[in-house]
Amino acid sequence: MLTRRQLIKASAATGAVAAVSGAGIALADGPGGAAGAAEEPFALPLQQARVLRPLTAGRGRHAAAYDVYRLTTQETDVTVLPGTTTRMRLFNGEVAPVIRATRGRPVIIEQTNALGVPFSMHLHGGHVTARHDGHPDNEVLPGASRVFSYPNQQRASSMWLHDHSHHAHSENVYYGAVAGYLLTDEFEEKLPLPKGRYDVPLYLRDAKFAADGSLVYAMDGFMDRPTVLVNGRPRPYFEVAARKYRIRLTNTSNERAFLLQLGEGDEMTHIASDGGLLPAPVSARMLEIWPAERQEVVIDFSRYPVGSKIVLSNKLAFPGEAPEVMRFDVVRTAPDHSRVPDRLRPVPDLGTPTVERSFVMSFDAASGQHLINGKPFDPQRVDLTPRLGTTEIWTVHNTDTRFGIPHSMHVHLEHFQIVDRDGQAPGPGEAGLKDTVTVMPGKSVRFKLKFTDYTGKFMYHCHLLGHMTMGMMGQMEVVD
Ligand code: C2O
Ligand code: CU
Ligand code: CU
Repeated sequence: MLTRRQLIKASAATGAVAAVSGAGIALADGPGGAAGAAEEPFALPLQQARVLRPLTAGRGRHAAAYDVYRLTTQETDVTVLPGTTTRMRLFNGEVAPVIRATRGRPVIIEQTNALGVPFSMHLHGGHVTARHDGHPDNEVLPGASRVFSYPNQQRASSMWLHDHSHHAHSENVYYGAVAGYLLTDEFEEKLPLPKGRYDVPLYLRDAKFAADGSLVYAMDGFMDRPTVLVNGRPRPYFEVAARKYRIRLTNTSNERAFLLQLGEGDEMTHIASDGGLLPAPVSARMLEIWPAERQEVVIDFSRYPVGSKIVLSNKLAFPGEAPEVMRFDVVRTAPDHSRVPDRLRPVPDLGTPTVERSFVMSFDAASGQHLINGKPFDPQRVDLTPRLGTTEIWTVHNTDTRFGIPHSMHVHLEHFQIVDRDGQAPGPGEAGLKDTVTVMPGKSVRFKLKFTDYTGKFMYHCHLLGHMTMGMMGQMEVVD
């Protein structure tokens, strides 16, 4: 059952769209204007994502060589829309708390599930062992706990934690159970990019609220989620200094894409994507970000006089929806010694591919399922068995031209390098390492990935969570 309205695939992106799929989407008809989104935009200040502190495991000489955290998923009543209460499913009762980690220093998380549904914590973008990857076989039942170990032997990148349970993941993510996980390393630390309070993670998502403030979830309700939240606040304003900021964007929506424009198309400097820093910065007037993707930009507010207010808006807002995402209010000056170097970080050599695989993503209107290579997910089935140490090329085809459905392939365990989109080299905004890539209807993308370090079972799937719930997931077993 395709209850969604038909998407019109549209507009090949102009050169101005730095990041990405090379295709914006537009919609034939919106949810009919009845869409809520009545909230005043820019009524509330941005809430900065709180950085969690590790539990100390010894001090001085006895300090542990790793950091320990406790994350409990629980139902929590919070105020999202003024004057109302929303029951959410949150990590430690907070909207998108953040762990900051350093390469070479493992993070251990004791995860307790105090929800009424199973939970399976996954580090999206993480290079971790199969046992700690949040495989749906490893669900933590209500009331139970599980210890996760993240080795952090990978390059700096902005990752995030979210549910991967077998049936409740899209709901758990929708109800808010996500956390940021920002890994840094020496290479990145040495660059003169904005740091500290000028390095700001923003978690973007959409939602639908009932009049009493409760969240409304419908699996196929992606066109009727008119409220945009940034770090859990509806369309907030953010008071900034007239200097450069590093803004780390993560799209934690189930299915919404954003095509972000600053002001009337003011320049943003695109510096990083899923797998960390790009080879070189890219000047961007628009920035596309699909579910689960991370895009990072440096914005220089020094070009605006103090007192300026600059709106960040979504050019992919559905008809009838408010396009505003948030507003930057320049309220003071500040010194700035940061700068964006001309070169950032070269992509590592992923080797010469010796195996090619092809993945067809399609919607089956008869069964209402979303399929990969004609099959829905089956936890009993292993779809492929890549060999450790091998480089492969994957081609992902989206054949859903009839309904105009985009898909977004995400691979666990390894980041990949995009080779081409329908034979065309990727734009500079897609030249870095990725772990999630959107393929528009009728299009294909090829990418290269190398299997290193870990064997075992890992997932790959569409990251439009409704599609994943309706079968669009496969399983690979990396073998030695
Ligand atoms: Cu964001 Cu399978 O995950
Ligand atoms: Cu993932
Ligand atoms: Cu999909």
